[in-house]
Amino acid sequence: MNLSNFGKKFSGDAGILSLMDDLGNALAQGGMIMMGGGNPGHIPEVQEAVKTQLQAIIDDEDELRKLVGIYDPPKGKGVFLEALADLLHQQFGWKVGPENICLTNGSQAAFFILFNMLAGRYPDGSSKKILLPMAPEYIGYADLGLCSDFFVSVKPRIEERGEHRFKYRVDFDQIVVDDDIGALCVSRPTNPTGNVLTDEEIQGLVELAEKHAIPLIIDSAYGIPFPGMIYTQASPFWNENVIVSMSLSKFGLPAVRTGIIIANKEIVDVLSGINSVANLAPGSFGAMLTAPLMQSGEMLRLSNEVIKPYYQGKMERVLDVIDQAFAGCPYKVHVPEGAMFLWFWFPGLPVSSQVLYERLKARKVVVVSGHYFFPGLDADWPHMQECIRVNYSQEESDVHRGIQIIADEVKKIYQEGR
Ligand SMILES: Cc1ncc(COP(=O)(O)O)c(C=O)c1O
Repeated sequence: MNLSNFGKKFSGDAGILSLMDDLGNALAQGGMIMMGGGNPGHIPEVQEAVKTQLQAIIDDEDELRKLVGIYDPPKGKGVFLEALADLLHQQFGWKVGPENICLTNGSQAAFFILFNMLAGRYPDGSSKKILLPMAPEYIGYADLGLCSDFFVSVKPRIEERGEHRFKYRVDFDQIVVDDDIGALCVSRPTNPTGNVLTDEEIQGLVELAEKHAIPLIIDSAYGIPFPGMIYTQASPFWNENVIVSMSLSKFGLPAVRTGIIIANKEIVDVLSGINSVANLAPGSFGAMLTAPLMQSGEMLRLSNEVIKPYYQGKMERVLDVIDQAFAGCPYKVHVPEGAMFLWFWFPGLPVSSQVLYERLKARKVVVVSGHYFFPGLDADWPHMQECIRVNYSQEESDVHRGIQIIADEVKKIYQEGR
């Protein structure tokens, strides 16, 4: 088929397409321990709250009609926008109203719009890129740009924390913001590493963005107020120059596809304009399910008292398993401060992380090779071939068995030198 550049871009070998394909094929084979994808766990108490909400809608004819039979405005359902603005104002003191919020069909779609709104070709003929101040970063960004050469990213500083832990730090000395940068973007907590940028690092990025009159995008898909998957001290931040992205996915509603952008009114208006052209309206489902939970405070309670301890407990238990299983091997794990991933670094690993991935897949354990998570970075840094991402959100006995197999395979590779 003869396709435009646009069509070709999405039918080619985009990293995320081959990864999703591979994960899908692995799942279809059955018997696999799936620690690769980004699916959140299924938490009974959250599912119960969702079920109750859904039942209340079904039992009320008016509400049901609103759920399935009426297009929302392009910014999303008003009652949700009001409820979230109130929550952000009360919890964090953010000066936001409904006019500062726009819903999208998943936050992934919001990033597609935002990135291409702020980077790419400009009317004066110039081109701009998105700067990721610290790689590794979320793989889902990598293929979103409609132009080539869309991202530039910066290597982190590595802070060793004892023999088997480390933390990536933003290396401000290496960040260069020229006229060709349209926006900065960080995920906090970070997918894939579970890192949480410190308040000082966020402040540094806020100042950098302000100095260059470009927005800072903070991707809070795992952050506060929901789903609240942060296990360290971190203050949320927003101002008129910051775009905060949130999502209902990791709260437990990935299939509902609700992304949330909080930004100044000008950005929200462009975003909602693109929403109406491309989608007519964002879906109502997520907004209707969660607006009452937000109004009642239940959304915060579930996040703080159910979701956060659920993941934090899993993380602490799997770390114990790791430290036992990998003993005697030069492994390092990024300090898991948030989200639901463990990021392993195997210094001097004799094979690439992709080969390790293949060998683990042959042993029925699916992880993600770390090399995908460095968009916009030159490929000459060996570290990029020495890491894997492991999702620990699924059934605990499977995850622990998976860790034993990973440890066994990695030890074999180090011992054999290949
Ligand atoms: C850091 C990060 N941002 C954004 C997304 C997109 O999520 P969704 O489109 O489900 O809101 C994900 C999904 O895994 C993610 O990990």
